[in-house]
Amino acid sequence: MPDPHHQPTRRLIYSSTAVGDDRDVDLSDILQSSRVNNALDGITGLLWSDGREYVQVVEGAGLAVAETFERIRSDPRHRDVAVLSDQADVERAFIYWTMAQLVPGEDSLEIRHHLNHLLRDAPPEVRSAFSNRQIVAR
Ligand SMILES: Cc1cc2nc3c(=O)[nH]c(=O)nc-3n(C[C@H](O)[C@H](O)[C@H](O)COP(=O)(O)O)c2cc1C
Repeated sequence: MPDPHHQPTRRLIYSSTAVGDDRDVDLSDILQSSRVNNALDGITGLLWSDGREYVQVVEGAGLAVAETFERIRSDPRHRDVAVLSDQADVERAFIYWTMAQLVPGEDSLEIRHHLNHLLRDAPPEVRSAFSNRQIVAR
C-alpha cells in the first residue's frame, strides 16, 4: 500500500572549485552551519573535499533542496558550481547524516558503504565524477 506520508526525495549532486588564497578551506566552518540548517530543513547528504574541489550530495524534499542549493550556489567560498545530477524521486542514501564528510585519507567505511550504494544506481556522469577525483575506486 502506498504510504500517504511518503515525501518524494530529491537528490542533487554538484561539483565546484574552492576559492581562497591558499585554497585551504575550513571545512569545519561550512559543516557546522550546514548541519544546523540541514537538521531544520530535513536535508541529508555528503560533502567531499580535497581542499581544492568540492563534490556534494544534497537530499531532501524538493523545495528544501532548491532553497539550500540556492544558498550554496551563491556562497563566495567556491565557484564553477556545476550540477552533475538532479533526480526527483530517489531513496535517501545518507539518511543518518545531516551532512556526512569525506576527505582524502579518511577512511570512513560506513560513509563509503552508503556512497557505493548511491553510485550503484547513479547515472554514468556521476560515477565518473566520483571516480575521476578518486573519491571512490574505479
Ligand atoms: C561547499 C559548500 C557546501 C555547503 N553546504 C551547505 C549545506 O549543506 N547546507 C547549508 O545550509 N549550507 C551549506 N553551505 C553554506 C551556505 O552556502 C551558506 O553559507 C549557509 O547556508 C548560510 O547559513 P546561515 O545563514 O545559517 O549562516 C555550504 C557552503 C559551501 C561553500
